Amino acid sequence: MASAPRSVRDEDGAVAAGDDRPSWSDIAGWYDDLLTAGSGPHETALECLRSLLPDLRGATVLDLACGQGLATRALAAAGAEHVIGTDRSEAMIELARRHGGPVGGADITYVVDDAQTLQTFEDSAFDGVTCQLALMDIPDLDAALGATRRVLRQDGWFVFVIGHPCYLAPDAATIRGPDGRPAVTITNYFGERFWRSTNPDGVRRAGNYHRTLSTYLNGLIRAGFALDVVAEPKPSRRLAEQRPLYEQVPIFFAGRAIRRG
Ligand SMILES: C[S@@+](CC[C@H](N)C(=O)[O-])C[C@H]1O[C@@H](n2cnc3c(N)ncnc32)[C@H](O)[C@@H]1O
Repeated sequence: MASAPRSVRDEDGAVAAGDDRPSWSDIAGWYDDLLTAGSGPHETALECLRSLLPDLRGATVLDLACGQGLATRALAAAGAEHVIGTDRSEAMIELARRHGGPVGGADITYVVDDAQTLQTFEDSAFDGVTCQLALMDIPDLDAALGATRRVLRQDGWFVFVIGHPCYLAPDAATIRGPDGRPAVTITNYFGERFWRSTNPDGVRRAGNYHRTLSTYLNGLIRAGFALDVVAEPKPSRRLAEQRPLYEQVPIFFAGRAIRRG
């Protein structure tokens, strides 16, 4: 399983020579501009997240690793009563606050915290937790899933969207299939590791953890969740135009899991 390699800096942790930049805080302004301009991957992820949410009326929901609050605001707009967004990056939380709230009838609060501990939050405080496009960015998956379980009430739900580990793997390469359609080749899928995209305009230049799909699913099971439903979304129109590959293979894997016991 890919836990945090000691040699790699995480935002508040030890710094490894040569691989400490950029952090999420470093690219927070760029990330906010990207989402504000309209991003095909993010609108695909958000639509998928929304499709997995139960009825939010009266619910108190935590949006984990919320970034500049894209999904947090969507939870409020979808009818949740209290929405809290949390992220370890102060720069991201500052941007989220600037986007404002409340939205709809819900109040939105933003808190700086580490998803691996969630020390700000009491046990069983939430009806639901969401995590959009961030489990791959969190060094210790088991710690984050354990903290998520702890802050959920019994039978509370956890809705997550991750980059599809079978297709967004570090050594993935886009090619043309025999019929001319875009396809993808993967090598070293089993090699779980931290990696950083070399694309200077890419989200994944901030670094993320490649883990196999079974690591994610077993992590949920180990943490005491039962899977309710899973999804592999088709691309939004914008994403299909930007990246036709994602009409052939799913860009994301998503699911809703329920806290048992
Ligand atoms: C790709 S962004 C996703 C943000 C947001 N959920 C969205 O959909 O736009 C990943 C986020 O994970 C946050 N993050 C990474 N490690 C974290 C941790 N240990 N605890 C809390 N947030 C973390 C980063 O600061 C960043 O805002």
